[in-house]
Amino acid sequence: MKAGVFGIGAALPEQIVTNADLVANLDTSDEWIVRRTGIRERRLLNGSRTLADLAAEACIAALADAGRDASDVDRVMVCSLTPDRMMPGLAPSVAEKIGCDLAGAVDLNAACAGFLYALDQAAALVESGRAKLVVVCGAEALSRITDHSDRGTAILFADGAGAVVVAAADLERGLSTFELRSDGRHSDLLYVDVDERLLRMEGREVYRHAVARMVEATEVALERAGVTVAEVDLFVAHQANARIIEAAAGRLGVPEEKVYLNVDTIANTSSASIPIALWQAEREGRLKPGDIVAMATFGAGFAWGAGVMAWKERVRVPA
Ligand code: ACO
Repeated sequence: MKAGVFGIGAALPEQIVTNADLVANLDTSDEWIVRRTGIRERRLLNGSRTLADLAAEACIAALADAGRDASDVDRVMVCSLTPDRMMPGLAPSVAEKIGCDLAGAVDLNAACAGFLYALDQAAALVESGRAKLVVVCGAEALSRITDHSDRGTAILFADGAGAVVVAAADLERGLSTFELRSDGRHSDLLYVDVDERLLRMEGREVYRHAVARMVEATEVALERAGVTVAEVDLFVAHQANARIIEAAAGRLGVPEEKVYLNVDTIANTSSASIPIALWQAEREGRLKPGDIVAMATFGAGFAWGAGVMAWKERVRVPA
């Protein structure tokens, strides 16, 4: 039995903030932001909903997509670096909101790498038989920790949630390989101080590491999966910056038409970035059952990684 993804969902806040809106209060321009990042607009969570509400909406959609309901779920994993409260984490509240009666619920914080770390753990849980159905959700309200007066970071970050349903079945490839790494020596290049509570980043340095590390990890994950670059149907990387993704894809040899980009309208949603991108890619007809997806991510820690999976090899979770 191999772990696979059986359902996907996402939820985005209603409020849209364009580059033009930012220019009103920041020394920047639409032209600079688009040229250096590819971002044109982003969604922000305002006071009317909590992040747990947004995450629950994504999880409910993912369960509906998998054709299962909350009573089938035995573990809820929520990745977030911006939970509604410092304690408790988001996961128990999300589990309650989606109607999972007493399911195990846990938060995982690996910054932008959180979703791939959680997906790897969910795969291990269902393959070992320790869980049957795991909901993995990335949910972020990065607007809460953004210094809106710092032009180097205020333009980048956004809010959103995406979720997948993971179960084991008789699959050919499923969630086949993950290569997950970290290097704490660089923790001062990207961090949120416990007192200041604002994201600080040495953008240029992070950029340099991001491209090199995502390429290395993806090459290892592909090799271990026995998949060539030519066999990859879609490259879905953490949507931090279009230039980073394009540079990484270029070094890997993934052609432009196989690179998924939604950073223009979603911006950087950290751990929610990859599931939101997978959800949009499927809705746009860019992902079909059986497609081979290479995923890569990089973020604070540094923590980064890559994964290879076959997309929804089976339409329904086996009973
Ligand atoms: N508008 C206009 N000018 C700006 C802006 C802005 N918004 N921001 C910075 N500048 C200026 C700088 O002050 C600098 O000016 P100077 O040359 O006079 O000193 C110049 O533009 C170049 O600045 P850089 O920081 O070198 O610009 P760069 O091309 O590196 O782009 C960016 C900055 C977009 C932040 C880029 O470095 C980046 O994307 N870094 C990585 C982000 C990332 O991957 N994070 C990982 C994940 S983090 C997470 O997801 C939570």
